[in-house]
Amino acid sequence: MDIHIFRDHDALDEHAANIITQQLLSVPESVLGMATGSTPIGLYNKLTEKHAAGQISFRQAFTFNLDEYVGLEKSHSQSYYEYMQKHLFRHIDIPTEHIRFPNGMAEDLEQECQRYNKMLAEQPIDVQLLGLGHNGHIGFNEPDEELVQETHVVQLEPSTRQANARFFESMDEVPTHAITMGVGSILKAKHILLIVKGEDKADIVYQALKGPITTQCPASLLQTHPRLTVFLDEQAGRRL
Ligand code: GLP
Repeated sequence: MDIHIFRDHDALDEHAANIITQQLLSVPESVLGMATGSTPIGLYNKLTEKHAAGQISFRQAFTFNLDEYVGLEKSHSQSYYEYMQKHLFRHIDIPTEHIRFPNGMAEDLEQECQRYNKMLAEQPIDVQLLGLGHNGHIGFNEPDEELVQETHVVQLEPSTRQANARFFESMDEVPTHAITMGVGSILKAKHILLIVKGEDKADIVYQALKGPITTQCPASLLQTHPRLTVFLDEQAGRRL
């Protein structure tokens, strides 16, 4: 595991953007695993800038997003699809048909999970970006006795709904379920880039990277990955 601690967010986001840039420069048709949340916004801004400056093209690239809420239309302001459009896709040259997303509005959610698994099997992810939930979740894989390997429907923890409530008008509007890639699917990525920012994540960063490998902290399974890069700000890396 390769851990880097950055003094400021700008340097962290720049280095993270360089990893994606290098990947696309060496393999233009790379498959990128994308994450949502507040953490990668700075990185997506950097990629947008590099694209505008002509330093990077996504024309041949493919993306898979980790997760999506169940029951929100793609066009809903808080859907992860809309998040990606707003923070990255609308500003770059990726063809729409190269964007892979779980459909949280599918009538048959089980079938939708199978469709996503099939696509993931056909197009292995080269670089998977990840953020970290306060309870150690990755994607929407919540702490549990057992973790599901592949894409599945998950009931969101009250603490996760609470954490994400800031983006919705009221708690009632926060979806109760989501579709997420499983931890097994995430671990299949050739390279994983975990980004964590903020003092409030210092304890969970420590548990995830230095604590026991346990399904009670899904991110701790990342310790088993042969190519894990971790970018932290000083606050998130305080306990390491
Ligand atoms: C969300 C997402 C995760 C994300 C995490 C942290 O619930 N499903 O993919 O990594 O929470 O979000 P943030 O970066 O806003 O702290």
